[in-house]
Amino acid sequence: MSRPGIGKVYFIGAGPGDPELITVKGKRLIEEADLILYTDSLVNPEVLRGAKSEARIEKSAGLTLEEIAGRMIDAAEQGQRVARVHTGDPSVFGAILEQAARLDAAGIPWEIVPGVSSVFAAAAVLGAELTVPEVTQTVILTRAAGRTPVPPGEELTALARHRSTLALFLSAGLMGDVRNALRQAGWEDNIAVAAVYKATWPDQVVVRSTLGRIVEDMRDAQIRSHALILAGPALDPGLRRPDGPKSRLYDPTFAHRYRRAVRAGDAPGGEEP
Ligand SMILES: C[S@@+](CC[C@H](N)C(=O)[O-])C[C@H]1O[C@@H](n2cnc3c(N)ncnc32)[C@H](O)[C@@H]1O
Repeated sequence: MSRPGIGKVYFIGAGPGDPELITVKGKRLIEEADLILYTDSLVNPEVLRGAKSEARIEKSAGLTLEEIAGRMIDAAEQGQRVARVHTGDPSVFGAILEQAARLDAAGIPWEIVPGVSSVFAAAAVLGAELTVPEVTQTVILTRAAGRTPVPPGEELTALARHRSTLALFLSAGLMGDVRNALRQAGWEDNIAVAAVYKATWPDQVVVRSTLGRIVEDMRDAQIRSHALILAGPALDPGLRRPDGPKSRLYDPTFAHRYRRAVRAGDAPGGEEP
């Protein structure tokens, strides 16, 4: 139970960039906040537009963890409402665990408000389905090992052996390593790989490529950061054809809770259950 008079911290997903891609709840909480701390590298300041005129708004890129936590704790102790605004969804590479631990230790209540992660913004930009029936039913969200290592067993080569869709965060500057890892996992050079730089921002750049060409294509487009990489057989644009893979959900012969199966000779679509 929260102490009387104590404020609350909201970790809010700002979405990928387009200010219309924040949730209604996230927008309201920003409008109500007394202190707004936002990750300025990829949060579009447009999402802060409705903030109260008296709200304190601060960028967090230049602050340490202890400074960020200190500001949030001080404000909440004074009964203020804090919006801690993160790019995309806070739970994916958002570094919120260590912030939440400090709030817990100080007895400050907090809550996560989800956002549209760049993985889904990039898929939308590409017009892609990441889970294509009979191609893959799995998406792996990960990163290439760089200055930040990955735990044993999560090396890209090991993950890529599944041949599922890979969504790579924080990896745009490591694409040579990514290509080597995927080749080691047995991926062929014609497998689709795409990079979306600043998805949904006005200066968004999309590179549709293949494993064999992605390094050179990203170099030509001068993309070294702020990009989401999607890779795998599901990204193949050739799958989008009338006789391509399709799910059983809308198959007339496949019965489920909301539709009876149609017998051979019946009209497609079936009756409502
Ligand atoms: C610290 S992580 C934050 C991820 C974020 N929480 C999310 O859900 O998208 C930063 C990385 O996310 C990806 N990213 C975030 N926003 C992006 C955008 N608008 N377009 C492309 N990639 C983005 C990039 O890979 C970037 O290096």
